[in-house]
Amino acid sequence: MSSDQDTSKTTRMVHAGRSADRFGGSVNPPIQRASTLLSPDAEGLYSGPKSLYGRMGMTVQDVLIEGLKELEGAEYGQLSSNGLSACSMALASAVQAGDNILMTDSAYGPTRRFAERYLGRMGVTVSFFHPRITGRDFEVMISENTKAVFFEMPGSLTFELHDLSALLPICKARHLITILDNTWSAGLFLQPLSLGIDLSLQALTKYVVGHSDSFGGAVLTRSKKLSVQLEAIAQDWGISLAPDDAYAAQRGLRTLPVRLKQQEQTALELARWLETHPKVRKVYHPALPSHEDHEIWNKLFSGSSGLFSFTLHETDTDKLKPFYDSISLFGFGFSYGGFESLMIPCDPQLKRTISTEWANRQRGSLVRISVGLEDPADLRADLANALDQIDSSGQ
Ligand SMILES: Cc1ncc(COP(=O)(O)O)c(C=O)c1O
Repeated sequence: MSSDQDTSKTTRMVHAGRSADRFGGSVNPPIQRASTLLSPDAEGLYSGPKSLYGRMGMTVQDVLIEGLKELEGAEYGQLSSNGLSACSMALASAVQAGDNILMTDSAYGPTRRFAERYLGRMGVTVSFFHPRITGRDFEVMISENTKAVFFEMPGSLTFELHDLSALLPICKARHLITILDNTWSAGLFLQPLSLGIDLSLQALTKYVVGHSDSFGGAVLTRSKKLSVQLEAIAQDWGISLAPDDAYAAQRGLRTLPVRLKQQEQTALELARWLETHPKVRKVYHPALPSHEDHEIWNKLFSGSSGLFSFTLHETDTDKLKPFYDSISLFGFGFSYGGFESLMIPCDPQLKRTISTEWANRQRGSLVRISVGLEDPADLRADLANALDQIDSSGQ
C-alpha cells in the first residue's frame, strides 16, 4: 500500500510493506532461513540488483523496514539484532577518533557504557548533560570537536523530557548530528524525524515486538548521507537481524497501535490512582499534569505508552520486602512493552553523574512498572494490596 498520510496510523500499520504477490499469495511474508541465496549462474553472483547473502536481509527484513519507515516517517532504515546495537550503530556512525559526543545523563545504562567504554577506547570523548538542560547551558557545552548529540525521551527510569524546541535549533546551527532513542513512544507518539532529529532509533524488542519473545533494533533517518554511514557500520561490524526476529517485529507492527492504546489507558489510570495513594511519594509519568515536563509532552507527543515509575516514601529495603513479596500480577523482569505487566526496583541500577537529584534516597524508593494488557482493575487491586503490606507506622 502506498504511503497515504490521510489514512490513520492504525490502518497504515496493518498494511505497510505487505503484498500478497510478493508473498506467494499469503497475507504474511515468508521467513527464509537462509545464509546462502543461489544465483542461476556465476555471473549473477555479482551483477544482481540485491545481495545474495542472507546477512544483507531478505523479504521479511524488507517488509519490516518498510513498516518502520511508515511508522516514523523515514526514508531509510537499518536493522540490528537488538536495541542496544541500534544505539551503538547510530553513535558509531556519527563520530570518529578525536570527536566529542554530548549525551543525556538519563540515557539507557548500556548506551552510556558503550559511549564511555568503547567509544572512549576509540578516541571519542563523551560529555553528559542534564536531561532538562536549558539552551544557554547546552550551548556552553558544545566545543570545536563536538560532533553528535544523543537524546532519549523520556529518560530511562526517571522519565525526564528534553526541551527540544530550544535544543534542536542550536544543534542545527552547529551542524551536530542528532540521535534520539524513541523506544518509549514506539514511534507512534513521537515523530523525531519530523522534529528535525537526524537519527531516530528503537529497541524493537519492546513495544514493536510486543510479546517478550524476540529482540530487534532499528535506526531510521531521512538523510541519504547518514544512511550510507549506517550501512557501512552494519557491514563492518556484521550487524543484521535474524529472519525469525524480523518476522516477530513486522507482525508486532500490525497490532502496535491497538495494543498501545490499551496500555496507554491502563497506565494512565494506574498512574493517576497511584498519585493519590498515601504510601506513594511521587509519580513520574509525563502525561500527568503534575510532571515537571508536562508542557513539553503536550507540545511534542501525541500519546503515552505503558511505562512509568513512582517513588515510595518507604526506603528501608526490609520494610519494602512485603510489598514486593505480595505483588502477583506484575512479573519481576527487565524489559518492557510486552503484553504482560512487569515491575523493577530501580535504585540498584540508577546511574547518574549530572542529574544528582537522583543521587540519594531522600527522594524515596524508585519503582518502574510496565503495564501490560491485563484488566486495569486487576492490576490496580494487585498494587493496592501490595502497598497495604508496607508498614508505615514508623513514618
Ligand atoms: C530505551 C532503551 N533503549 C535500548 C534498549 C536496548 O534494547 P535491547 O534490550 O533490545 O538491546 C533498551 C532496553 O531496555 C531501552 O530501554
